[in-house]
Amino acid sequence: MTLAIEPLHPLYAARLTGVDLRQPVEEAVIDDVRAAMARFAVCVISHDTPPTNEQHIAFSARLGPLERGASPKIKGTELRVPYPEIVDQSNLNDVGEIYADDDRRLAYKRANRLWHTDMSFYEVRATYSLLVGHRTPPSGADTEFTDMRAVWDALPASRKEGLEDLVVEHSYWYSRVQGGGPEPTNEERATRPPARHRLVHIHAPSRRKALYLASHASDIVGWPQDRARAVIKELMDFATQPRFVYAHKWRQGDVLIWDNLATMHRATPFDDRTFVRDMRRTTCRERAIQSGESRIV
Ligand code: OGA
Ligand code: MN
Repeated sequence: MTLAIEPLHPLYAARLTGVDLRQPVEEAVIDDVRAAMARFAVCVISHDTPPTNEQHIAFSARLGPLERGASPKIKGTELRVPYPEIVDQSNLNDVGEIYADDDRRLAYKRANRLWHTDMSFYEVRATYSLLVGHRTPPSGADTEFTDMRAVWDALPASRKEGLEDLVVEHSYWYSRVQGGGPEPTNEERATRPPARHRLVHIHAPSRRKALYLASHASDIVGWPQDRARAVIKELMDFATQPRFVYAHKWRQGDVLIWDNLATMHRATPFDDRTFVRDMRRTTCRERAIQSGESRIV
């Protein structure tokens, strides 16, 4: 079976047909998915019923080493989806009920509504994320994207000057608090210390330059904080102009794959006190993490 590709935006993003995560997938098709991802950075694969957790994990594992045990230790966390490879992105607690209004996890989840790329707060970055729509609300909750290679290309040459020398600090807790979440406890903070990455990098699969930024970006190494935050904000605003944005309208059974090294994304609001949104994510990383190397507890 060969893969068919239908572009969804003038700059990037495509729908793939000819691949089904619920069936065995040939290696040649995996190669085609990789090639499509190198070019389009965001790919949608629809199914009439969502893949199971096992099928989701098995397919993801063919695209790179998987993150395991990614959920931060936030007080009271019990797993509704008991697979270390899956991040539960739903608004449901461990017994499948919509979170109480004052639940810390709900407050932290809302930080996904800030533009970000997954796991930039780790030294070993995320490559692909694969998000499966198990249940979607009747309206709202699109996931929006921007292509950071197109953004780099569109920056005026005079604005690019000097940016390639900069190193940015990324902190998970910075974005949680920016997103309206409570101050983390010292214990929570210790589970995810910050990481540093170059502001401009080469996206290896496409050999294109890209900005690497996120809501997690809190500082520029060697710069005063106010100046760093002003530049980060200016570049984030530039990167998220409507001309760069693809908004995905979810249907149950959709699998959305995005390349975190080439894009940013954000969740958008919906009535999360009334409607269930059950989304589950796996994440590939640049390389496998050795046991003892991971700081996640
Ligand atoms: C994610 C994420 C956005 C959404 O799963 O990493 O940011 O719309 N999700 O759920
Ligand atoms: Mn995300």
